[in-house]
Amino acid sequence: SCSQSKAVGSTLLCSINQLFHRSLSPSLPGPLSLPLLGNMLELTRDHLPNHLTSLARRYGGIYRLHCGNTTIVVLSSAEMIREALVKKWSDFAGRPHSYTGDIVSGGGQSISLGDYSDTWRTHRRLTHSALQRCSTQSLHSVIQKQALNLRQVLLDYNETPVDLSEDFTVAASNVITTLVFGKEYDKSSPELQRLHGCLNEIVSLWGSSWISALDSFPLLRDEGTGGTVTASLLQSLGQPLGEKERVVVDLLIGGTETTAAWLCWTVAFLLHRPEVQCRVYSELCTVLDTRYPQYSDRLKLPCLSALISEVLRLRPVAPLAVPHRATRDSSIAGYCIPKDTIVIPNLYGAHHDPAIWTEPYDFKPERFLDGGGASTRALLPFGGGARLCLGESIAKMELFLFTAYLLRDFEFLPSGNRETLPDLTGVASVVLKVKPFQVIVRPRPFT
Ligand code: HEM
Repeated sequence: SCSQSKAVGSTLLCSINQLFHRSLSPSLPGPLSLPLLGNMLELTRDHLPNHLTSLARRYGGIYRLHCGNTTIVVLSSAEMIREALVKKWSDFAGRPHSYTGDIVSGGGQSISLGDYSDTWRTHRRLTHSALQRCSTQSLHSVIQKQALNLRQVLLDYNETPVDLSEDFTVAASNVITTLVFGKEYDKSSPELQRLHGCLNEIVSLWGSSWISALDSFPLLRDEGTGGTVTASLLQSLGQPLGEKERVVVDLLIGGTETTAAWLCWTVAFLLHRPEVQCRVYSELCTVLDTRYPQYSDRLKLPCLSALISEVLRLRPVAPLAVPHRATRDSSIAGYCIPKDTIVIPNLYGAHHDPAIWTEPYDFKPERFLDGGGASTRALLPFGGGARLCLGESIAKMELFLFTAYLLRDFEFLPSGNRETLPDLTGVASVVLKVKPFQVIVRPRPFT
């Protein structure tokens, strides 16, 4: 019929158009791809964000890697990441179908790992507005309470050298469980121990098969774990597996390790540059006198804000965000990107781009102060567009209040001589963490 031949005609035109564009589009640069293996070896290197960043210095802000039948495009420039995630958000809002994603989400229902669909959009919208409701009502006081709990824990250490990572994890997960269930857990409680065991399992499972999750290397699949992790995580909290509980899994995965890792990085960097700690402390004393800070004080505390931005820049705790998938044929920086290509926003690379940042590898919070030359516009620690971190506003309030409380009440000191200063290279999985280190926490005079 006439309408059928019209449809065939327009499909043909469309294909010719695509072919034409593809032949005009330059081919993406990238390292030599080996027979069978492709570029798999590039993806199994230690500290992947660092390695992908060094490849960007050779091949540019956009390059491709081959992995099985899948093409992976790595973006290491803020401008290109913005083009893909923000400007062309619907073209790149997909997630690769992953085995790990199915385990964590019980079949694609997770926000972070679920693919882009109408159901996913509704789910994300509802969660977002529920979070906003909780946040405006109680987030500030929930975080303040956890900051005061943390204060007591640190006082109890009596200046003995300690590794604070677990205490930071407890504080961060309590913010989320209080918001969603109205419950907080003690560090020694068996529920919390089990919860953190499950979270670790999920994150390491996710990390170990981070790239193989692209379904090209099924050998790495751990058949024993299928479908049970989410359920056991909730059981560990003594919660049933309903709608609200599924959401909390997403928030706990997204919001616990990230926030805790960020706090550890802050302490680690401050040990290396104690004068920054002094500056932030004297700013807190001058501006607040003896009272505790409110989130609304942040504009009056530029040194503290600069410290937060600089740690987010140097160690974006989700260094490669979460892989995206092209939902249709599109383009980035003039290169043709076919449907189903995997796109990795290399946030770590963008934050170390020498074209944007002077001395990109140095810890210099002062770059964000007036006259320091840096702008927070080039920072993308939370990604952007349709997949922007769902907890961005929660995280920002947590980072500010936890850091302000900690630095107002305590001085962080190295646990020994220079050799004991934390190693700043980091261990990169889904979350970029600092290697374990000990610190002495000394109360300030009026604490
Ligand atoms: C996703 C960063 C804290 C919940 C993400 C992404 C990044 C990120 C880069 C991936 C964006 C993308 O796919 O392009 C961070 C950082 C944090 C933080 C740096 C703290 C320092 C939190 C918190 C929560 C949270 C506190 C929850 C309360 C989520 C969720 C997603 C996500 C649910 C998945 C969003 C989606 O796929 O649509 N985060 N995050 N995050 N984050 Fe965060």
